[in-house]
Formats: sequence, structure tokens, C-alpha cells
Amino acid sequence: MPMSRLDSFIRRLEAQRRVLDWAAAEIEGQDGPVLELGLGNGRTYDHLREILPARAIHVFERDARPNPRSMPPAAYLVLGDMAETLPAFAERHGRTAVLVHVDATTGVPERDRVELAWLPGHVAALAAAGALVISGSALEHAALSPVALPAGVPDGRYFAYRRVT
Ligand SMILES: C[S@@+](CC[C@H](N)C(=O)[O-])C[C@H]1O[C@@H](n2cnc3c(N)ncnc32)[C@H](O)[C@@H]1O
Repeated sequence: MPMSRLDSFIRRLEAQRRVLDWAAAEIEGQDGPVLELGLGNGRTYDHLREILPARAIHVFERDARPNPRSMPPAAYLVLGDMAETLPAFAERHGRTAVLVHVDATTGVPERDRVELAWLPGHVAALAAAGALVISGSALEHAALSPVALPAGVPDGRYFAYRRVT
């Protein structure tokens, strides 16, 4: 049965919440920051800071215009094109992130594949050994090994990986 864009959007948000909640539980006990790639409206950032109140959450965005209630503190907002800001952050912090949430999608997978082709490498360069990477689009990189999604998240709706070493 065909699915309207509204249905698809609702399912994406449900999948996001389920995956974020699962990821927060998975990283319990591991030290390190969380990275949010794509602030957008700030919904997933807001959820992350609610479920991970003690974590440093660094947010990357080129055009930070979220709902005002979801603006990250200036010290944790990295403004600019992630193609440049992620490598600069990796130089300063190394591979320390325990969770990376990638939500930089334009909503058009064919466009994302071209415009964000550099993204998997930059993400792998920030993820600590064993870190979890969750993403709204598939990421292909030798160091990122696919892991099963939590129950209830349909295949292809979200993606999860572990940094292998
Ligand atoms: C789908 S939205 C994020 C939605 C957000 N997670 C939420 O829940 O509201 C994608 C965001 O990624 C940002 N973005 C995409 N490519 C980027 C890049 N190369 N550098 C910085 N920000 C980028 C866009 O500006 C946009 O705000």
C-alpha cells in the first residue's frame, strides 16, 4: 500500500525516538561526549539532552535556527559546514565520541548520497572504539559495522553501527 509523506514522517519520528532511547541505554557506563550532526528544528537534540542530562552533547549545524527552546549552549554548538567543522573537532578532541547521531538528511536519499558522500569518513574519525553511530541514512565505511536496530524499528527506516576498533 502506498505511504503518504505524512505517514512516512510520523514513522521516521517514531523510529528516531525509539533508536535514541535505545542508544542512550546502550552507552550507559561509557565515558565520552555525544555528537548531534544536524540541529534542524532541535527536536532530536532536545530529546537527547532530556534522556542524557549528564552528557556533553556537541551539536553541528551550518544554519542554527531551531525552536528557541532547543538552542544548544554556545559552547556546545559548532557552527559551519560539517565537511570542515567535523575534521577540526576531531583534531581538537580525537576519537572520543561514544554516540554519534547523524541527522543531516535533506529528505531526498539520492541527493544525500552525493552531497554527504564525505560524511561516513568524518563520522568514523570521531567515534571511539565501540562507539555507537545511529543515522537516518545508510553510512558506508569499513570501520563502521552495522548492528541490529531495536525491536519495532522497521529495516531501512534508521541505521545503527559500531565503530569496530
Ligand atoms: C533533517 S534536519 C535535522 C533535524 C533535527 N535532528 C531535528 O530533530 O529537528 C538536517 C539539518 O542538517 C543540517 N546540515 C545538512 N548538511 C549540513 C552540513 N554539511 N553542515 C552543517 N549542517 C548541515 C541542515 O542545515 C539541517 O538543519
